Amino acid sequence: MPAAGPDHSKLPRHVAIIMDGNGRWAEQRGLPRAMGHKAGVESVREIVETAGELNIEVLTLYAFSTENWRRPAMEVQALMTLLRAYLESQLTLMLEKGVRLRCSGQIDRLPKDVQALLHKAIDQTAANRGLILNLALSYGGRGEIVRAAQRLAQQCLNGSLKPDDITEERFGGELYTAGLPDPDLLIRTGGESRLSNFLPWQTSYSELHFSPILWPDFRKPQFLAALLDFQGRQRRFGKTGAQVAA
Ligand code: FPP
Repeated sequence: MPAAGPDHSKLPRHVAIIMDGNGRWAEQRGLPRAMGHKAGVESVREIVETAGELNIEVLTLYAFSTENWRRPAMEVQALMTLLRAYLESQLTLMLEKGVRLRCSGQIDRLPKDVQALLHKAIDQTAANRGLILNLALSYGGRGEIVRAAQRLAQQCLNGSLKPDDITEERFGGELYTAGLPDPDLLIRTGGESRLSNFLPWQTSYSELHFSPILWPDFRKPQFLAALLDFQGRQRRFGKTGAQVAA
């Protein structure tokens, strides 16, 4: 008998993923690290497809951090090449499947042609109503919070906002993720149990799922297992277990 899958009525609205382990996957096979990233794109395709099939509202993927700019130039280049190819090859499918593309991060630091491809895909998919695929690119959580503080400070300076009117909602509205629900589930593959500057504001109440599987091996069955694990958690948001059960 096949193992029971996740309950479709209790799926997370927003899943965020730290896709770690591409480098080690390649090294274990005696391949250059870039080959691990290439294999990782196949997992990206499969997880995006699965999230869409399950009617998950938002999938945020940590594809490139602000810290990743410090990697060897060749590896950064390889990642940009993969991103380019992904955007070029997936746009038709995104339109077919109703996927809406967004991104979070310092997009203006990306190569100009990648920026153009991103803007094109974001514009062309803007009216779609299926999965929101949010790519975190040149993203760093602390930087995002500082940027939000600067934007609010600027509004205070020009008189359109009073400091007392800065609420959590207002603050969240200045983050890259403005308008999106917070992640209910954050998955990190690759065996490390840390958050690495990923969505520190938005994940305050997220359930965390750490998987030992390296990202290129993280496919539909592993994703479904993470969703099942999520469904076994009791989310209390500060209340008691009895209050939540009532
Ligand atoms: C971390 O693995 C992964 C990255 C820094 C990049 C993730 C990128 C992809 C999966 C492909 C491009 C993405 C898209 C959306 C087309 P690592 O290199 O740190 O692995 P390691 O810890 O084993 O060295």
